[in-house]
Formats: sequence, C-alpha cells, structure tokens
Amino acid sequence: MNKYHVVSRLGYGTFGEVFKARELSTGRLVAIKTVFTGPPGKEDKTKYERELQSLLALDHKNVLSLIESFTHKQRFIFVMPYFASDLYRVINRMPVPLPESKIKGITLLILRGLAHCHNKRIIHRDIKPSNILISKTGNIILADFGLSRFLNFPPRMFHSTHPRNGVQQSSPEQLVDAGPQNSEEATGTSPPAISKPSLGSHVSSSNTRPLLSHKVVTRFYRSPELLYGSQTYDYSVDVWSVGCIVAELFRLRPLFVGETDIEQLYTVISALGTPYADLDEAKAHHVENHPQTKGGSAKNVPKSPQSTGRNKETVPPNYWPEMVDLPDVGKITFPETKGVPLEHLVPNASRQAISFLKRMLVYSASQRASADELLFDEWFYSDPLPETTDIFPCSLIC
Ligand SMILES: Nc1ncnc2c1ncn2[C@@H]1O[C@H](COP(=O)(O)OP(=O)(O)O)[C@@H](O)[C@H]1O
Ligand SMILES: [Mg+2]
Repeated sequence: MNKYHVVSRLGYGTFGEVFKARELSTGRLVAIKTVFTGPPGKEDKTKYERELQSLLALDHKNVLSLIESFTHKQRFIFVMPYFASDLYRVINRMPVPLPESKIKGITLLILRGLAHCHNKRIIHRDIKPSNILISKTGNIILADFGLSRFLNFPPRMFHSTHPRNGVQQSSPEQLVDAGPQNSEEATGTSPPAISKPSLGSHVSSSNTRPLLSHKVVTRFYRSPELLYGSQTYDYSVDVWSVGCIVAELFRLRPLFVGETDIEQLYTVISALGTPYADLDEAKAHHVENHPQTKGGSAKNVPKSPQSTGRNKETVPPNYWPEMVDLPDVGKITFPETKGVPLEHLVPNASRQAISFLKRMLVYSASQRASADELLFDEWFYSDPLPETTDIFPCSLIC
C-alpha cells in the first residue's frame, strides 16, 4: 500500500470504499477499490473473488483493467486506472441530450465492451450508468464486476450475415473490433488464457444451466425475467440494461423508475403492455405502433446486414412464451394494458434508434438481440454515423 498516496475518496463501494490515489513511482493517478474481507482465517473470499476472476479474464479497450491486486489489513485491494467520471455523473450534468451521433458512439463503445464480456462467457449483472466509467479522453469503460459471473454456455449464435461486402463508410471491423487494450489507460496485466467460446454452439437446454440469483442488477435496469424471479436467465439481462441506458441518454432520466420491485414491474408492463405467452394474443392486445420519423434519415447510407437478418418487426414486445416458467408470474396481477409506443417514451429518438431500442426492450430474453448482433444494427450504419471520439465536452467530464 505504501506504493500509493491516497488523494481523495471517490465513493463507498458495496463492500468497501473507492479512493483516488497517486502511484508514487510513476506519478500516475489510479483508483483503489477496497473490499472488506473479514479477519484472517474467517476471510470471506466470495466478496471479491468473482470480481477478481472477471477482471483477470477480460482484456478490452472498453472494459476496466486491473493494475494489481493484493490483501492489506483485512481488505482486498483492486488497483485500477483512474477515470475522470462515470455516465451517471455525466448524464446528471447534461443540460440537453447529446446529439444522436454521440449517443450512438457511447452505445457502440458500451456494446463492444459488453460483447467482449459475453464472448468470454462473463455476464456483468449490474450494467448501469454509475458502473460505466469515462476517461478524460472520452473513452467508455465497463466497470464494477462485483456481481459478475461466468456462465457455462456461450452467448446466442450470431444471427447476422457478416457485412464484409455491404458497408463502405464504416467497415464492420472498424465498428465492431476494438481489439485488446491499447488505450492510454491500458495497464492491465495479461489475463489467463480462457478458451474462446464457439459462437455456434448455443446451449439451450434449461437443465444444463446453473441456478443463478435473481437479486442482481440495480432495479431501474433490471430485466422483467429477473423481476419475476428467474434463476435461469442469461447474457440478455445485460442487454436489457443497455436498452434502458440508451433510452436514458435520449431522455436524460431513467426509462423505467420503480420505488419497489413490484412498482418496477408495473412500470415496465405499463410501457410494454401486458405480456402474453401466446403470439396471436400478444399481437391482438398490443398497442399499435406508429413510428415517428424524426431525423436519422438513412438516405445514401449503405444498408446494414442486420436489415437482411432476422425479422425484427413481427414479434410484439409483449409476446413472452417463457413467462409461464417464471417463479413469480401469477403471484401478483396488474391491470390489463396495451402499453405505450416506445416512440412516446423516447420522443427525441430517430426511427432507427427506436427500432434499435426495440431489439433490446422486449420481455422475451430469446427475442432480445445479443450484444454481438446489436453491433451490426442498421442504426450504427445510418446517418448520422456514430461519433466515438471527443464525445463529451469538457464541461461534462473535466
Ligand atoms: N477506476 C475508477 N476510476 C474512477 N472512479 C472510479 C473507478 N472505479 C470506481 N469508481 C467510482 O466509484 C464508484 C463505485 O465503484 P464500483 O466499482 O462501482 O463499486 P460498487 O458499485 O460496488 O460500490 C463508481 O460508481 C465510480 O464513480
Ligand atoms: Mg458500482
């Protein structure tokens, strides 16, 4: 610990505290997260072990890296690069929403980091604005892997055709492949080799899945299956959270706000409509959408391959075949509702942005696009193209 000089406290962690500190040998700023572990001999490793394992396994420009870790006086210490701000603070400082090109850029960077986590078979389980760090140069970093865990099956097979021949303005390699860490903040130690998941071998049988806690993800960003007590969910809970964050970037306030878990569910149902396990019933009971066409014209922009992929318009968001298996469905009923068009909830989003949001904000986890698939969504290929540099003015992050 005497390698670092603490400058200030950044916040209280769930199990400890986070400090801003200076590394004495180099003068660089670092963040030190301390986790109380209990007395020697009675150490509770569960409080930090998953976070450590995830950080060691991940190596990506848009995912937090670890400088070093050690135990010190009944505390486990994570030393990480220091970041100037987080998305929660930045959203709260914004007088007006950022232009859509910048919202696209932020979303792209979040999804690149998330796709890396999922392809390493790590589910984050607490994606929210305060866990998304922002560097002085505007890079976006997924952080706080305290609730993360490894899954024993890979993310869903990638449905889209590879667009190698379809896009001229931004090549898919530029959009998707951020590669390993090479940013100025990149200081992580090499992670242990982890076998690369085969994207083509999705394990769908529920009895091969581990039972997971449903008490994860901060409420506003918690997916409906978690709110209904699912213990067999998958990577798509993180995708729901990203959908909530993208909508929040347009609105500058959270999309679904509930003071209790029941109120949260009520808020989601009021928006998406009463869910039905039967497709025809779902269609019959869902509010008619009349997409607005504000901004975001796709004129003169090459068509993304996603638009030729799965048919994303035929399934209404209130179709939820898996709901019959959820532990808490039926324990409480809500008034019947047809829901509200997403266009009304996120009024300043373009037509393509709304279509993009609809791929994430659906009840059925199997209908939710994966992080990899979303990276190929036509939103990222349509005007205005994503801006991934100089996203934030100094007034927001300095
Ligand atoms: N590397 C970092 N650089 C700057 N601030 C950080 C860093 N890591 C965490 N923080 C700040 O501390 C807060 C809490 O850290 P986090 O890892 O999310 O712990 P927890 O949510 O478990 O309390 C974050 O929301 C962020 O504001
Ligand atoms: Mg946190």
